[in-house]
Amino acid sequence: MNINTKVLHGYPMIDEKTGASSIPKVQASTYHQSDILQNQKYTYSRFGNPTVEALEEAVAVLENGKYATAFSSGVAAISSVLLQLSSGDHIVLCKNIYGGTYQVVIELLEKFNIEYTFVEESPTENWSKAIRENTKMIYLETPSNPTLKITDIKAVAKIAKDNGIITVCDNTFMTPYFQNPLKLGVDLVIHSGTKFLNGHSDVIAGLVVTNNLFLFESIVKQRTILGGILGVEDAWLLMRGIKTLGIRMERSEHNTQLLAGFLNRSNQVKKVYHPSLNSHKGRKVHKSQARGFGSVLSFELKNSEAVESFLSKVILPLVGVSLGGVETILSYPWLMSHASLTKEERLERNVTPELIRLSVGIEDVADLIMDIEQALQ
Ligand SMILES: Cc1ncc(COP(=O)(O)O)c(C=O)c1O
Repeated sequence: MNINTKVLHGYPMIDEKTGASSIPKVQASTYHQSDILQNQKYTYSRFGNPTVEALEEAVAVLENGKYATAFSSGVAAISSVLLQLSSGDHIVLCKNIYGGTYQVVIELLEKFNIEYTFVEESPTENWSKAIRENTKMIYLETPSNPTLKITDIKAVAKIAKDNGIITVCDNTFMTPYFQNPLKLGVDLVIHSGTKFLNGHSDVIAGLVVTNNLFLFESIVKQRTILGGILGVEDAWLLMRGIKTLGIRMERSEHNTQLLAGFLNRSNQVKKVYHPSLNSHKGRKVHKSQARGFGSVLSFELKNSEAVESFLSKVILPLVGVSLGGVETILSYPWLMSHASLTKEERLERNVTPELIRLSVGIEDVADLIMDIEQALQ
């Protein structure tokens, strides 16, 4: 089944009991147990809920995985994966990582005596060089946030496998529509469902997908213990959003490529980061592992005063924290997604006070270009 059909028909999306065109919201915390000596599938919604399970089945299918676990946020999904490590273990992560993930590593893993190393995404040898005897996990995010650095997923997953290490990939930017890390050798795929999967800036959610039963069971058990479950309404909204994933991704990616080209030609702009550009260092590797370039781009203005005046003039984008909505969202990583890093850490990652990130939406691209052009002027 091809992907645009799969987002609609690859998993159960019709209610078996009534034929209703969407999975019902089972808005219940608990379930009547007519015989307490008998095991019954649902007993309490922190342990499992049919609506949430329908979403998990859908995302597992789209990622070519057997099992998915839904969480109350992307960061809850990330924490649940990182907390599979034990005291004394070591993890290698890509340097240009989502700020929230960085914070979990710095503030939580350190507390549990878990060692970590951040590596520059390429060349691939950086990853093998960072491996130690106690390395248990490799964690990557490609393209990275916000400078769109590319990691060779297959090569890094192979290094991990050869050393008996688990590989994790945050696939939020690409979604299963453009990139399938499990097929490339990754063991655990993470999504912030808040972003492109849902697509409407009205849900906070996270998911972990795997083919590994042992890891799945351990993650589910931990979710039950820690309690970071996804609410029923949010699971339902996410399922609704997923039905249009294909057309949203295609349209916003098309707009992004045109905007990237426009910004690249503008003499008000110092640098543009997007893998669709010929000048992008990771373009070739990215093209070998993904079917599209995605809808997030970043660009640098000449100085921070230009950023201030640009932000005061731009009209169409929603200015705020987040990405992946149908509307274009502009964010300022220096003070938003990467604010938890020190100034030096941000600069080392090319997150400068001049950097602006755009999550391009599905508007008419001519209007977006016109708006950005007048704000740049
Ligand atoms: C790549 C990536 N992963 C994870 C997250 C965290 O997701 P959430 O905000 O749903 O916790 C984000 C949020 O921006 C993100 O950009």
